[in-house]
Amino acid sequence: TAKLQTTIVGRSILYYDEVESTNTVAHSLVLEGAAEGTLVIAEHQTSGRGRMGRKWYSPKGKGLWMSLVLKPRIPLQLAPQLTLLVAVALCRSIRKLTAIDAGIKWPNDLLVDGKKISGILLESSADEEKLQHVIAGVGISVNLDPDDFPEEIKDVATSLSIQAGSKIDRAELLCQFLLELEGLYELYQEQGFAPIKMLWEALNVSIGCTVRQQSNKGLIEGIAEGIDDHGALVVRLADGTLTKWYSSNVEFGSR
Ligand code: BTN
Repeated sequence: TAKLQTTIVGRSILYYDEVESTNTVAHSLVLEGAAEGTLVIAEHQTSGRGRMGRKWYSPKGKGLWMSLVLKPRIPLQLAPQLTLLVAVALCRSIRKLTAIDAGIKWPNDLLVDGKKISGILLESSADEEKLQHVIAGVGISVNLDPDDFPEEIKDVATSLSIQAGSKIDRAELLCQFLLELEGLYELYQEQGFAPIKMLWEALNVSIGCTVRQQSNKGLIEGIAEGIDDHGALVVRLADGTLTKWYSSNVEFGSR
């Protein structure tokens, strides 16, 4: 049976049957004074949000659709590091509970066999460059069957149960994830990003891939060589120059 072993993360849990988006609920709870570690979780989201204005498909009872309130004492420009931290926690918890070989695609996706299994949507709010709070929205497609996915994402999305061949206990995964997250968050606050970066590097499936994105100078292409100390993607262009990419609108090719 599942047991929550954390002291801050998830010690206050608000559980809903249906919400528009757990991120939206978490934002309003923060305005009402919600403490760090507060977790909002729902069985179903009617307007789950993804990155770049995309929709996040969140069918009832089949996934973990949740948002966590964090109040790290870090400068605003370092907030993207938290996306990578959450991705590491997610990846480690899935690998601990299942035999699934999940990998991290920069900046916010978890892939299995090249298909997306989980996404992270970090929304931060700042006051004059000072980070006030961060809402870390996490969606994990846990027990979706192949038929549960809408046609347009069938080829690019998968679930833990499809990959494992059996249903996964959501409560157990949740507890494991929160435990991993709390451990990494403490490590991060004590030692900074360096140890998180090392863990990320060991779990990523992005380094070595060809990457491209639209820039104001047209399409630019290169090879992902790593991440820097802020969590940006380090890309080598064809002419040999090293560039740093911050936008998440990056298209990944083969490795
Ligand atoms: C992405 O891959 O583009 C990010 C997806 C994030 C989805 C989660 S589900 C819980 C939380 N609430 C939302 O509306 N979105 C995030």
